[in-house]
Order: sequence, then structure tokens, then C-alpha cells
Amino acid sequence: MILRLFCLVACLAATPLRSEEAQSFTLSVAPEIARTGLLEYMLPRFSLKTGRKAVVVASGGDASLHPVQTGAPAQLAREGVPYALTLLTGNSAAALFAGWLASGPGQAAITGFEPDAGAPFTVPARAEAVEEVRFEGDATLGIQVARRHCARCHSVDDSGALAMGQAPSFAVLRALSDWSERLTTFFLRAPHPAFVQVAGLSAPFDPASPPAIVPLVITTAEFDALLAYASTVAPADLGAEIESR
Ligand code: HEC
Repeated sequence: MILRLFCLVACLAATPLRSEEAQSFTLSVAPEIARTGLLEYMLPRFSLKTGRKAVVVASGGDASLHPVQTGAPAQLAREGVPYALTLLTGNSAAALFAGWLASGPGQAAITGFEPDAGAPFTVPARAEAVEEVRFEGDATLGIQVARRHCARCHSVDDSGALAMGQAPSFAVLRALSDWSERLTTFFLRAPHPAFVQVAGLSAPFDPASPPAIVPLVITTAEFDALLAYASTVAPADLGAEIESR
């Protein structure tokens, strides 16, 4: 009962942080990708699956698909150059695109495209991109931590691909090739620093601007358990999820 009341208060208090799910996002891509026609082939497929629209812009935007150094996590490659998608804002449609790009249907759209000239695009082997990282720790404790603390905003333990408001589900996060980096640094990433303390890792809250919602305080042992749990969550297959609705 007390827990329930706590959630009610916390969830209500958390409401202002969420906003409507975005229906579209802006995307910039390296010119050599744009010239191939990949976007004209790929983006309608993304829109068909998700109902979200990508608007291509010359630079910046909510997400950017650009070359990365060899060896860095990449979603696609062509002629020896790996490219990665970077999310530049909290736009939820852009996050959905990132998940779709890493999912089976997204990768099929990338490799299925035949440029008029030059080599086709390739995708990294899925296993090395997504599934290799495993954190040691108590996954059973981890799911309790996730339910108690993260489920205020995130869907933490179903295979649902959909985000709650702006917060991506754990299954969507797991489908991103850099999920482990995002999770291990979540307390440094917006919006969390305003209300999260990992004891021993976070700087104390600024007394001048205390958290506007019930603060989320976990120990490093709980954090380790959370990471162990997250590594057991099955990555969302965004295409399949949306198809079945
Ligand atoms: C009060 C709401 C709230 C709570 C509680 C919360 N989050 Fe989040 N989280 C968000 C929102 C909103 C986003 C999306 C931010 C964005 O896309 O800019 C997010 C995004 C994330 C991301 C992706 C960050 C990135 O930069 O890609 C991770 C990882 C994450 N949360 C982990 C957690 C974990 C782990 C917990 C529990 C210990 C937690 N969150 C609790 C609201 C919350």
C-alpha cells in the first residue's frame, strides 16, 4: 500500500518530464550516402512500419548518420567506410528510427537497396554489434531495482518495443548497438542527472536546484544488478512488434 502510494505520487510528479510521442524527426546524412538514393528506399519502409516520418535536413537535426572511425559501433558500411546514427535530441521518433535501423527489418532495408553505381551497403554482424556484452551481477535483484525505480517512466520488463512517452522501453534500448554504454552512463544522460543519484558515482544534487520529483537513489550494488538484468532483456524487434498490431 505504501509502495503503491509512493508510485502514485512519483508518477504524477514525473508527468511534466514526459511529452507527446513525436510523429516525425529531422535527419541529416553524409552527402555520399544521400547521393546513392538509400534514403528514398529506406525511409518509406521505416514510415510504413512505425507510422513515423523522417524529414531530411542538410545538417544537424534530431539524428545524424555520418562516418565513424573504423572499429567504432556502426549501423551500416559502404566501400570500407562505417557509418553510425547519432541521436542529437530526445525526439522519440528518432529513437524509434535508431531501434528500427538496428532491427532485422531495418538491416534488411539497408542491404536490400541496390545503388545505381558502386557497391551495396553492408551491416555489421548482429551478434557482435548487439549481443556480446554481458554484465556479471544479480539479475534477480536487478529486475526489482528496475521495477521500483525505472518503471516510473520506462517499460522495463515486457518485450514491448514501444516507448512510454519520451522514455524508451528497456527492450528498445537493448536493440541499440551501443546500449551498454547508454545504460552504464544513464545517470549522466538527460533527463536523469536532475533526479538520479548513484551513491558513490554521482555528484550531490545542487542545493540551489533540488530535484523537482522524488529523487531516484540507488547503490552501486543495485546499479550492477540493474546492468546484469538489462543484459538479459531481449532486444525489441521493432518491425515485428509493429506488424503484429
Ligand atoms: C522520471 C522519469 C525517468 C525515470 C525514473 C528514469 N528515466 Fe531513463 N529516461 C527518461 C526519459 C524521458 C528518457 C529519454 C531521454 C531522451 O531521449 O533524451 C530516458 C532515457 C534513458 C536512457 C537512454 C539515454 C540515452 O541518452 O540514450 C537510459 C539508458 C535510461 N533512460 C535508463 C534509465 C534507468 C536505468 C532508470 C532507472 C534506474 C531510469 N532510466 C529511470 C526518463 C526516466
